[in-house]
Amino acid sequence: MSLDRQVWPASTAIGPDGAVSIGGVDLRALAAEHGTPAYVLDEADFRARARGFREAFTAAFGAVGTTVDVYYAGKAFLCTAVARWAHEEGLRIDTATGGELAVALRAGVPGEDIGLHGNNKSDAEIARALEVGVGRIVIDSLVEVDRLADAVAALPGDGRGRRVPVMVRVTTGVHAGGHEYIATAHEDQKFGLSVTGGQAMTALLAVLARSELELIGIHSHIGSQILDPSGFEAAARVVLALRAELAASTGHLVAEVDLGGGYGIAYLPGEVPLDPSRVAKDVAGVVAQTCEELATPLPRVSIEPGRAIVGQTTVTLYTVGTIKRVPLGVGVERTYVSVDGGMSDNLRPALYGARYTAALVSRTSDAAGVLARVVGKHCESGDVVVHDVDLPGDLRAGDLLAVPATGAYGRSMASNYNLVPRPPVIAVREGATRVLVRRETQDDLLGLDQG
Ligand code: LLP
Repeated sequence: MSLDRQVWPASTAIGPDGAVSIGGVDLRALAAEHGTPAYVLDEADFRARARGFREAFTAAFGAVGTTVDVYYAGKAFLCTAVARWAHEEGLRIDTATGGELAVALRAGVPGEDIGLHGNNKSDAEIARALEVGVGRIVIDSLVEVDRLADAVAALPGDGRGRRVPVMVRVTTGVHAGGHEYIATAHEDQKFGLSVTGGQAMTALLAVLARSELELIGIHSHIGSQILDPSGFEAAARVVLALRAELAASTGHLVAEVDLGGGYGIAYLPGEVPLDPSRVAKDVAGVVAQTCEELATPLPRVSIEPGRAIVGQTTVTLYTVGTIKRVPLGVGVERTYVSVDGGMSDNLRPALYGARYTAALVSRTSDAAGVLARVVGKHCESGDVVVHDVDLPGDLRAGDLLAVPATGAYGRSMASNYNLVPRPPVIAVREGATRVLVRRETQDDLLGLDQG
């Protein structure tokens, strides 16, 4: 057996008896101590990827003469330990709700190092963001300009008179990424303000007209799981042209441009992830060239990677249960391998048709492979974990399977469907385990039920 290094956490190793370890922890021992299903997160890998983004972008944009801030997009997966690691590695935290904001703050991340997004921010979210002085609020609609400025104006006492740093999120018409639900910068969707439709300029002018708001940047996020860097380049050109147009008409040169997240990763063996240093160089080159053509000074740049930092750091560990061979006709059968989790811990296959791989991680097997489909325990035929994967023909109940690259949008989109408690997130590092998020219990679920 070999495990593709582009898909599995960096520290994954196979022992002589076929047992797989991550972060120096034998997954059999981890399962025995913590149970399954469980998300197993390689802390050193997370830190290295966070650092890698910061270093690659800082070097590439430094070479053309500007600076970069990397915001870790907490929606991919956030808990206090992860927010702390990201911040310790020199990243800021991008939040999209009051919940994500609360976790980043609980982790000790200062408000000024946090950004707040949201296409429908609640009054409470806005109030909290103002109270803790977040470094930027990203405005997503025209109505939000006055809503936010009015909220600042209504602040009691010393808050009044403050200028709150804001960005305006624009849609550039660039459509990139894996699935329509996760592609966000084409025009017919709910995020941002259209550049070509003119709403982006209207919103920028509206922000400049309100003394309570300080326009620090223009924001563009073009989609997710992007494997071709040209979308980032095209979006950067549109944003920089808008910035130049605003400067020409108002004299206000926006200091910062955020190019969003969306850096794609490998989910299946043989897939090639987007290389952060290559994108950084390409995009830095385009930013420098475009600013030269427009005769505008370079902006500060920020980016918001989520998936590319946490996705590959995590595997989901399952125990094999029922195995069923289902005849497909003409002498062909499919082996259905049921595991003790499913669409409640990984919604992506059901929601996006996302493909994953899996491997037996508790022993070696010389048995010939069979084409298997790994399915969950939920009452739904779309409850598929891995559509097609070659697994040993002698796979049996009690074996451990691991599904790699589940760190992004796995635990963060997990549900309690069928009242299944959500799995824990367990960090592994240098032979030690640490529970970052504990397993939910039936008591947790019953605790919400008011009878
Ligand atoms: N910044 C903004 C404004 C975003 O909306 C997103 C993702 C990110 C950054 C981070 O994108 P990333 O680097 O992680 O691709 N649930 C979907 C992905 C939705 C992404 C939503 N926005 C999935 O499981 O594929």
